[in-house]
Formats: sequence, structure tokens, C-alpha cells
Amino acid sequence: MEAEKAAKVCPGTDSAGVSYTSHLDLWSDDKKKASWYKKAEEYWDAQAATLDGILGGFPETSEPDLRESRRFLNIVRSAPKPPGRRRVLDCGAGIGRVTKGLLLEEFDSVDLVEPNERLLEQAKKEAGDARTERFIASSLEQFAPEEARYDVIWAQWVLLYLTDEDLVAFLERCKKGLSSNGTIFVKENVVIEGQWNVDRDDNSISRTDAMYKEIFKKAGLVLQDELRQAHWPKELVPVKMYALRRS
Ligand SMILES: C[S@@+](CC[C@H](N)C(=O)[O-])C[C@H]1O[C@@H](n2cnc3c(N)ncnc32)[C@H](O)[C@@H]1O
Repeated sequence: MEAEKAAKVCPGTDSAGVSYTSHLDLWSDDKKKASWYKKAEEYWDAQAATLDGILGGFPETSEPDLRESRRFLNIVRSAPKPPGRRRVLDCGAGIGRVTKGLLLEEFDSVDLVEPNERLLEQAKKEAGDARTERFIASSLEQFAPEEARYDVIWAQWVLLYLTDEDLVAFLERCKKGLSSNGTIFVKENVVIEGQWNVDRDDNSISRTDAMYKEIFKKAGLVLQDELRQAHWPKELVPVKMYALRRS
């Protein structure tokens, strides 16, 4: 029983060339955890509130990204008991790129949550319309979705900033935020072969597929579907989409 509860030890590396025997060493005390989040905050403070800034210098990836997301959403919608189309939450929304290019076209209304107030202001300018209801300034580790408010919770290129412990806790809170048949969509950089890697520029972790699946299980979520992003530059970390339901 204890062995089951114990987190799996996953070795990995960071962009400074340091090797780790376990990813948990990244966040093993409060000081490390605080500096983990501070780095990401500082990084996003320094980025331009533009497509180029939000996509790390690869603005051309936005279009294939949104196209594949829509394809995945339609696959999930064609399964029995699909999620509703009423309200969606965009997590780590940045300048509202996903809200504007996908979610507003696919749902009646969108809430956005984003900790960087400058980016959130830009999201209001770029994606704000009568159907964007709430612009919430918060980090995900401090945020709890309102109970049963969302048909879909969309988290893209943001869970890579959360520690494992905070991510499991966040997903557990998301479960409570879902309506019936509600679905959580996760779209993240995922290492398909090899070990996890941390980018020390912004303290983001590219987890392995197995690490994500372990986290989903811990949070009491069932993997309904998964798809690897196609039409993706070879020099970039692969991207995967997961659709998750309450177990
Ligand atoms: C790569 S951008 C992605 C933005 C948007 N999801 C998209 O795909 O266009 C990462 C976003 O995550 C936000 N972020 C960073 N750390 C976060 C945290 N702990 N909680 C919530 N958002 C965070 C950043 O401020 C930034 O807007």
C-alpha cells in the first residue's frame, strides 16, 4: 500500500546540463519551490504581450496548434456523452490566443485565468467580447474553479509550470469545477522517448507521457482520449493532447 502511494522516481536533466535522479528533487523544500515559481513569474514579466512573445519565438506554430486542437475537440465530441458547449475555462490564458482562435468559436462563453496582469489586459483587448465572462488574475496553484461551472477546462502550455504536488491538487479542484460530462483538456510539451527536461530560462518541465499519466491517475481522472500534435517542427519538444474525465 505504502509502495503504491510513493511517487515514482523519474530521472531527468535540465538545460544547464545538471542530471537529477528524481524530478521530486526539483521541489524538495519550500525554498526550491518558491524559487521555481519566481523564475517563471520573472520570465513572463519580461516577455512581449504578442504572439511571438507568448510562443517563445515560434509564432508560426499557432495556426497548426489551433487546427489540431479543434480536430481533437471534435474527436472527443463525437464520442458518447460528449461535454457540453456552454462554458469553457482557459487556464494560463496568456494574451487570449486559444480563447480567440478556438474556444470562442466552439463554446457559448469563456472564462480566462492568467497570473500575469499585463498579459491578461492584452487578452481583454484581443479576445474580450460579450461572451468572455470572467478575466481572473491568478496562478493555477492558487486557483479553484467555481463548482460545476465548466463543460470544458482547457489547460495548454501551463501545467509545465506546476510542481507535481500542485498539479495533482489543481486537477482535483478542476474535477469539482466540471458540469456533468465535463472534460479537462490538457495540451503540453511531452517527452515521448527519454527523460524529462527542465528549461532553466523559465523553469518549465517537459514531463514524459508516463509522468503525465501517473499524475492524471493520482488526481482520480480517467484518460478518455489522447492525440499527438501533427505538423510540428522537429526541433521543438513534441506536443500531446489528453482528454480527461472524472473516474
Ligand atoms: C506559453 S504561455 C501559453 C499561453 C496560452 N495557454 C497559449 O497557449 O497561448 C504560458 C502562460 O502561462 C502563464 N503561467 C506561468 N506560470 C503560471 C502558473 N503558475 N499558473 C498559471 N499560469 C501560469 C504565463 O503567464 C503565460 O501566460
